Amino acid sequence: MASHQSSSLALLVLTLTALLISPAESLTCTSQTFTNNARYTNCVDLTQLTAYLHWTHDQSNSSLSIAFIAPPAKSDGWVAWAINPTETGMKGSQTLLAFQSNGAMTVKTYNISAIGPIAESKLSFEVWDLSAEQSDGVMRIFAKLKVPGNGMTVNQVWQVGASVTSGVPDAHPMQTANLNSKSTLNLSGGQTVTPSGGDSRTKKKNIHGVLNVVSWGILFPIGVIIARYLRTFESADPAWFYLHVFCQVSAYAIGVAGWGTGLKLGSESQGVKFSVHRNIGIALFCLATVQIFALFLRPKKDHKYRFYWNIYHHSIGYGIIVLGIVNIFRGYDILQPANKWKSAYIILIIVLGAIALLLEAITWIVVVRRKSSKSTKPYDGFNNGEGRQ
Ligand SMILES: *[C@@H]1O[C@H](CO)[C@@H](O)[C@H](O)[C@H]1NC(C)=O
Repeated sequence: MASHQSSSLALLVLTLTALLISPAESLTCTSQTFTNNARYTNCVDLTQLTAYLHWTHDQSNSSLSIAFIAPPAKSDGWVAWAINPTETGMKGSQTLLAFQSNGAMTVKTYNISAIGPIAESKLSFEVWDLSAEQSDGVMRIFAKLKVPGNGMTVNQVWQVGASVTSGVPDAHPMQTANLNSKSTLNLSGGQTVTPSGGDSRTKKKNIHGVLNVVSWGILFPIGVIIARYLRTFESADPAWFYLHVFCQVSAYAIGVAGWGTGLKLGSESQGVKFSVHRNIGIALFCLATVQIFALFLRPKKDHKYRFYWNIYHHSIGYGIIVLGIVNIFRGYDILQPANKWKSAYIILIIVLGAIALLLEAITWIVVVRRKSSKSTKPYDGFNNGEGRQ
């Protein structure tokens, strides 16, 4: 049984590891060819998101024929390339965006005037011959357009997203690469990178993520495991109580710090709101604060209200674990860090869950043995452990 379990765990770890290794992107744009035999006079390896642009510029009539290639963030996601005639960032981007719709690739145009949900619209310049295709893990957008501006350079912005919901592309990940995916394209060849303040914000988000995963996602569950299982062993009394308090108070301190960074990030983020993530975060903070008060308000263990206190303390505790883990996964979806971080956390949760299951089994064996040996002090489940609680 045990060896079966460990071999299936090994299999799981192997599978997760295999998922982490993404196919090597060794191509440069010069070695890329097109199945429709299209040829372009120029190409450039874009600076982020393993994206490429091929183009032919016809100065005589200011037309530009482009092919944009990028791997979507997930296979049913989207890719986009835009010219921004007014600024260097996303705001104002005249965007060509491709995704799968009813099994076929489609390209739509968006005049992105603000950050937030986008709606299909006309562009500020003419576009024609739009098409897209998907194969070998990348999506390709083909288009022709009338070059706006001076006809020598254009501000380009490109992006990839993970999903499309009922025909509307969902927000892209907020990692450094997604925030720095812009440059000035020199139509006679080459690109100039526009500097961006994306890095420090990404660092703040990563700190927010680490603090909250450590607190709500790791320390809180460990503290609950200690309280629930360690006290079965008489020799662990009252050590389990102090360990439990230590774990949960540290988790609370780190969690409050993580919560604060989240509120700060939320207040700085204009346009984009993650209300569910935010509301769960606020609920977690309130519940955890109540739990800290519970420490000081707990009745003596033989008090008649102790039974109700136990129900309240335990159910809020389990609620915090569930909400904490749910919110951590929402956070992973928002921040979209490298897959390995999510996988590492999933493995850790599985390990903690397996430890809890094992201890649950051991606890029951201990309890049943004690009962059958007719101990004068039968262990009565978890409501009335034998020491302090
Ligand atoms: C794009 O949106 C901006 C802001 O809403 C608007 O001023 C502009 O006229 C729009 N351009 C086109 C081509 O619709």
